[in-house]
Parts: sequence; C-alpha cells; structure tokens
Amino acid sequence: MRIVLENIKELVQIEDCSIRYKAGAQMKSLPILHNAYLVMRDGIIEGFGEMDDLRSEKLDNDVLVELDCSNRIVMPSYCDSHTHLVFGATRESEFVDRINGLSYEQIAERGGGILNSALKMEDYSEEELFDDAMRRLHEIAMQGTGAVEIKSGYGLSTESELKILRVIRRLKKESPMVIKATFLGAHAIPRKYWDDRSKYIEKVIHEMLPIIASEDLADYIDVFCDQGFFTPFETEQILMAGLKYGLRPKIHANELGLTGGVQVGVKYNALSVDHLEHMGAEEIAILKGTETMPTVLPGAAFFLNLPYSPVRNMIDAGLPVALASDYNPGSSPSGNMNFMMAMGCLKYNMTPEEAINATTINSAYAMGVEGMCGSICRGKMGNLFITKELPGYTNIPYHYASNLIETVILDGEII
Ligand code: NIG
Ligand code: FE
Repeated sequence: MRIVLENIKELVQIEDCSIRYKAGAQMKSLPILHNAYLVMRDGIIEGFGEMDDLRSEKLDNDVLVELDCSNRIVMPSYCDSHTHLVFGATRESEFVDRINGLSYEQIAERGGGILNSALKMEDYSEEELFDDAMRRLHEIAMQGTGAVEIKSGYGLSTESELKILRVIRRLKKESPMVIKATFLGAHAIPRKYWDDRSKYIEKVIHEMLPIIASEDLADYIDVFCDQGFFTPFETEQILMAGLKYGLRPKIHANELGLTGGVQVGVKYNALSVDHLEHMGAEEIAILKGTETMPTVLPGAAFFLNLPYSPVRNMIDAGLPVALASDYNPGSSPSGNMNFMMAMGCLKYNMTPEEAINATTINSAYAMGVEGMCGSICRGKMGNLFITKELPGYTNIPYHYASNLIETVILDGEII
C-alpha cells in the first residue's frame, strides 16, 4: 500500500533521524520543505522532496492513494507523552467545587481527587474502560495525536491497577496509535492506609510490581512526588524497585511545590520529569546535561489555575522542553495537543517553532518513541496530519481553539 501526498505547501519538521530531541536555541529550528511531496509505503515514510522531483520520478503501479495537499500544511503527528486517559467517571463536581473556592489540595484532603477516581474505578469493567478509552483515542487522533503514553494510577489496588494496565495492553493491540504504558500505583495513598503509608508503598513494591513485570504490562514507572502525595524518600524506594524490573522512571514532579521531585528524577535517570509548575534555579541547573526531558503540562496549569512553568528560563538555560496534555478527569480533561501547543506560545512565550518541537520530537523522546515518531524522516512511521487550507504553520497555534486538521494518517492509513 502506497500513499503519495502531493503539492504540499509546507512539509514541516523534516529532521535528520539522528536528532533525538532539541534543546535550548536548537528548539527554534524547524526545517521545512515548500511545494513538497511525501511517499509512504506500508506504513513507513519512504521518501519526500520537492514536487519537481516527484514529477520526474515514475510512480509504481501500486499507488493506491494520491492526495492533493495544495495550500495545506503537513506535520508529523503530535506525541502526547503524558496522559491518564483510561479512567472511569468524569469529575465535573470537583470542577464546580473549585469554582466555588476549594483548592485542588483541599479536595484531595477530603478524599476527592485521585481517590474519588479510584473509588469509581471499582464500578467499571475492563470492557467499559476499554470502550471509553478507545473513544478518547479516536478523539485525540482526529486532533492530531499519533503517539500517546497512558498511565495507570486510578486503581490504587492491585486488582484495579492491573485492570487499567490490561486495558492499555489491549489498546496497544487494537488502536493504530503508538502507545506506551506507565505504572503509576504511587499516584495517591488510599484512605485506608493514611495511618500507615508504608504499608501501601510495600504493596506497590512487593505485590503490584512483580505481577506487572511478569505480565510485561508496563514500559515505565511513575510516582506523584509532591506535597501531600509521595515524599522524595518514598519515591526513591519505588523507583529503585521499578528499576530492578527494568522500568525506567517518568515522574510527576513539582506541580504543587519545590519538593525535590526533579532531583529524584535526575538521580534515577528518569526519561522525563513532568509538570514543573514550581522550578527554581537549582532545578533548572540540575537538569542540564542529563537525559531527562523536562515536560510541561499546560492543560493542568490552565485548568487548575496553577502557576505557569518558567519555560522561557528553561529553554534559555539550554534545556529541552516537551509539552504534553496530561489528559485526565481531574486536572486536564482534554487531550487536545493543538491547544497545548497554542498554550505553549500564549502562556509560556514559546515561539511556534519551539512549541512544535516540544509537541513532536521532544515529546516523542519523553515517551521513548523518537526513533519512529516525532519528525518527518525516511524510515519513520507514517503518522502525520494534513491541515485544511492555511497560509502557514504559524496559523496552527494562532487559531488556538480551532481544529484545522483535515486528514489524519496513522501507520500509513487514512483514519
Ligand atoms: O498529572 N498530578 C497528579 N496526577 C494527575 C491528575 C490527578 C487527578 O486529579 O486526577 C495530574 O495532574
Ligand atoms: Fe499526570
């Protein structure tokens, strides 16, 4: 099966495959080809170049689809490196509680928040969770996402955590998206362990992890290392246990305070440290020269009215930055990466080029798929989208609430 895109106005993010992410000033670079073509065969990008070269090249007989992309932009699909999109009930009542003055932490202290999601999770069958998650995957695919990381963490019991991870395993098989699974048993301490936190941590380490590892249910391990949730010391215990099973950390850090999460992440060579609403000079300095991707979640800061992460300082200090949606029912009930990118520009002062790098190649790195997604490059997967007619790529974040995507191609197939 061969798909040929022709007359592309701007083919965006044509990068050398050896580029794994872009940091600091490199984030401003966004290689583009004008009046271009692109060929995919059997799900893989086979080639691209200027239209004149396609005209002179004889196309094989096996061309099944030719798409005219006149006046249209073609971009690699977004990679959403941080979501919790397998969940049961939505939490709109907390949304209203917050409008009426309660804080996110006050809601959590009352047993709402993550614990509320975990309680409701018990009522959902694997089948229902799968169907709902599939619908959400389809929704975000049509908004341009081609790869997504999904965490457990709304179970908080062995049974429910396994249920979520098994749903993610089935999504991996049945969805055209590239999916990575992260075990987040340490998302919150269930109420019945509030008097003896270490008991729950032992359960995560000695009961959940061995089963998850034996069934190969997770690619990464996460801990919510923050004020009121897990301490850096507790986080270390859990990350050390995960590493024994070969699970690299990706952690929730510094959402609610300067609580040492970034330091723990770097110490354990986390693939990413995520949230980062609270970042001091020390946190920025410690990330320099590491393999840990600082990942910012604009949706959560927007929805919870949290401080916006100092992304400008981070990039100006030479760090890479990725953007992800955090799609979940409590702090970011949207997986719209186009909106996250627009927020990158509007709230974090990123240039459109920086925001595109943050939502494609850098977020691909943050979920370990930069070898197959995140840029237009020969040999990578045919995961991309074609916009409606537009003057140029800057229009994508500029029209922050419009869906400007006309055609989505995942794994070389039109969705
Ligand atoms: O990334 N911060 C921790 N966990 C999730 C949301 C949890 C929730 O409120 O359901 C997040 O924002
Ligand atoms: Fe999260």
